[in-house]
Amino acid sequence: MFRIDKKDRVDKTELYASLELQARSLLDGERDPVANAANMAALIFHLLPDLNWAGFYFLRDGELLVGPFQGKPACVRIGMGRGVCGTAASEKRTMLVDDVGAFAGHIPCDADSRSEVAVPLVAADGSLLGILDLDSPLPGRFDETDARGLEALAGVYVDSLA
Ligand code: SME
Repeated sequence: MFRIDKKDRVDKTELYASLELQARSLLDGERDPVANAANMAALIFHLLPDLNWAGFYFLRDGELLVGPFQGKPACVRIGMGRGVCGTAASEKRTMLVDDVGAFAGHIPCDADSRSEVAVPLVAADGSLLGILDLDSPLPGRFDETDARGLEALAGVYVDSLA
């Protein structure tokens, strides 16, 4: 059984360092993209505070298709360049959105969402595999520390597939 080591009152950098270690251990020995995305989404959702959605979109036939996640049911397909996820995918860069209401083209899935971060999953050859997406009911929930920490976690996921 995998035990989630939930630490109260640690600083954010420490929390991401712990999360990265736990993610490596959780995915160790398994290469299946769906299985590893499912466990990664669960780990993130249960370890990071103030989230209402955490999960994956996979690039399929030129658009994003929802993958394993934790939270309320979400939009199934997102076109490249559309919404926060589609923008992160087409530009292959992390999108930090403090106020989803102010982001033109934001795709509302859960009415509770106030802020969002979308991180591209990029393979070693530079190709896009999909997006790791997190939503929060709090405005401005995600900062640069979250962005760097989640990019590291996206890297753990991508590495696990090799
Ligand atoms: N809000 C996202 C859609 C995905 S959900 O938040 C789970 C977007 O604008 O791309």
